[in-house]
Amino acid sequence: MIGGDDRIHRSHYAYQIDKSLVGKMVRIAGWVEEIRDIGKLVFLLIRDVSGLVQTVITGKHLQALKDLTRHSIVVISGTIQTGKAKDFDVEVKVDQIEIISRAIQPLPLDPANRMSVLQSERFIEVLTPKIIGAASEGGANLFSVNYFDTKAFLAQSPQLYKEQLILAMDRVFEIAPYFRAEKSHTVRHLSEFVSVDIEAAFLDSKDVMDLAEKVLLTVLDHLIVSVEGGSVSLNKESILELRRPRIERYSYKHCVDILNHEGEQIVYGEDLSDSALRKLGEIYKGFYFITDWPLKLKPFYIHENESDPFLSESFDLQFGYLELISGGRRHHDSCKLRRRIIDQGLDPSRFEDHLRVYEWGMPPHSGWGLGLDRLMMVLTNVQNIREVVLYPRDTQRLHP
Ligand code: 4AD
Ligand code: MG
Repeated sequence: MIGGDDRIHRSHYAYQIDKSLVGKMVRIAGWVEEIRDIGKLVFLLIRDVSGLVQTVITGKHLQALKDLTRHSIVVISGTIQTGKAKDFDVEVKVDQIEIISRAIQPLPLDPANRMSVLQSERFIEVLTPKIIGAASEGGANLFSVNYFDTKAFLAQSPQLYKEQLILAMDRVFEIAPYFRAEKSHTVRHLSEFVSVDIEAAFLDSKDVMDLAEKVLLTVLDHLIVSVEGGSVSLNKESILELRRPRIERYSYKHCVDILNHEGEQIVYGEDLSDSALRKLGEIYKGFYFITDWPLKLKPFYIHENESDPFLSESFDLQFGYLELISGGRRHHDSCKLRRRIIDQGLDPSRFEDHLRVYEWGMPPHSGWGLGLDRLMMVLTNVQNIREVVLYPRDTQRLHP
């Protein structure tokens, strides 16, 4: 029913509003995404679960907008007409607007802009299984579970799935919880943590490092706006200090040289110990990348560095001593990948499904995983990861 006093029923979802309806009356309902006031007209963008609709308001109806806030719920009746906007070929000319529920507070997070950087770079959000049949990051730190009459594992990361999905979707991202049996009881390890993962075809390690930088700087910019607007109470100066114009990049070799110069004894090729990373964190304050790690320190899927196969095309994003992101380029050749699985002592028969996908034509690809809880530690300036998680899970904590 359209018009009358029916207050809550819509006639169309956003996705159904198209040229075939020009001249027809519709009633749409949803959240006010944006209020574009250009004087005699106001464009309201209305979001529902299926997308966005542009509406145009003129004349006496402008009255109704006096106290309208973003994210209020409105029901709008009007006539479909062709539009001039770049993003909308049709719009709704408003005859009746009713504010059903007025949003009083701005939201602390804007759900409509969730990961806007990734969406604008054409990444598609995916959700991959958390109960899996083979280790995604190698054998260490893996929880196993009884799965009917076989053994399964809790996913350590979406690694293999996200690589498979780029075949169909080119670029994917996922934000989800992952599980690691972290025996060491530290202030930066949880058994269940949230990771932001991306994977993209035809990008190399440097490209996805650029993207990580862009995501991080965009998060900081949004945070600065929220702190200034009062919807997030954090120390503005400390957030501004985190926001540098770019994030420096140092090679693993450079870091080893610097550390040895500072009196640490690091053998080239070995991992950087906790104390070495703490020392490095004193030298390089804030965010920085460590690139070109030795291949043997990286998981089986990481691609070797083409000019020096002792090294890999990989990087970590650090904040002081704390690792926030690991990423790099992956193998796209199934023979090389199989070889690396065997070399790392893993059973290739558990990876047959994954290896089969490679036979369907796997493009070169790269990606990264960002520990969201660790990023929250940095943004809120707390030293213990348990303080940024509602129900932390660690070696000693399974309740509540
Ligand atoms: O370094 P990790 O193990 O890398 C991966 O999982 C790769 N698949 C990423 C990729 O695409 N190449 O984990 C990624 C990030 C770490 O840098 C860290 O921030 C976080 O996830 N992380 C943890 N956070 C809290 N507790 C733990 N036990 C964590 N393990 C990893
Ligand atoms: Mg790592």
